[in-house]
Amino acid sequence: MTEHPLFQRRQAETTGPVDVRRVGPGTSMASDNAFALALLNLWERVSEAGGAVGFTVPVDRSAVGAAVSVVIDDLRSGRAFAFAATRGRDIVGFAMVRPGKQTTAHTGRISQVMVDPGVQRSGAGTRLVQAVIRLAGELGLERIRLGVRDGTGLDGFYRRLGFVEAGRLPAWIRVAPDDDRDEVLMVLEIPRRTEPDRT
Ligand SMILES: CC(C)(COP(=O)(O)OP(=O)(O)OC[C@H]1O[C@@H](n2cnc3c(N)ncnc32)[C@H](O)[C@@H]1OP(=O)(O)O)[C@@H](O)C(=O)NCCC(=O)NCCS
Repeated sequence: MTEHPLFQRRQAETTGPVDVRRVGPGTSMASDNAFALALLNLWERVSEAGGAVGFTVPVDRSAVGAAVSVVIDDLRSGRAFAFAATRGRDIVGFAMVRPGKQTTAHTGRISQVMVDPGVQRSGAGTRLVQAVIRLAGELGLERIRLGVRDGTGLDGFYRRLGFVEAGRLPAWIRVAPDDDRDEVLMVLEIPRRTEPDRT
């Protein structure tokens, strides 16, 4: 029997157009078990390539799996909203936002922004974060934040999208036993929009 493409731990397709789509209940892309596995494979590939998405090399796949479970639970329960970048049947990118609660209900937190190493620097990450920003506006959020590992240069990626540095958590991220990095906190005021997102 041929293995379903989503279940293969292989490099994603490297040609063809990339689409950005909403994931989760009520969208065209279900946050089902096949999606969870595809996200696990993507997250592991990005982490193995040194991506700043919570894990260090060598990557503990079961720890990534536990993190994926939390993401899928949050998507299914409506605690978080996400977009996936797809190329053919491959998941080649992901980004999500979690709205705050009670006194922070007007804010949100972006996390798990990642693009497959073979697809990076072709605009997918920008499109994913822009889609999250539009959605955050539709959800009525007024500002969103995220944390960037210092020394990665990624603050530049977010500055291009309008985020500004709001502060730092000193030595917050332990990349290696002798390498602690600041977490750079970045914030974006959401531009007001009236048009619904048709992504
Ligand atoms: C960060 C990430 C999502 C960006 O996605 P992407 O699709 O590669 O980004 P884009 O092609 O939209 O980049 C647009 C611009 O952002 C900047 N940029 C993108 N990635 C960058 C990086 N790693 N370092 C510095 N600047 C970067 C560049 O100016 C780039 O324009 P250029 O390619 O013309 O120089 C992707 O690099 C990634 O998945 N990295 C690994 C995971 C990770 O670290 N995520 C960040 C968590 S905060």
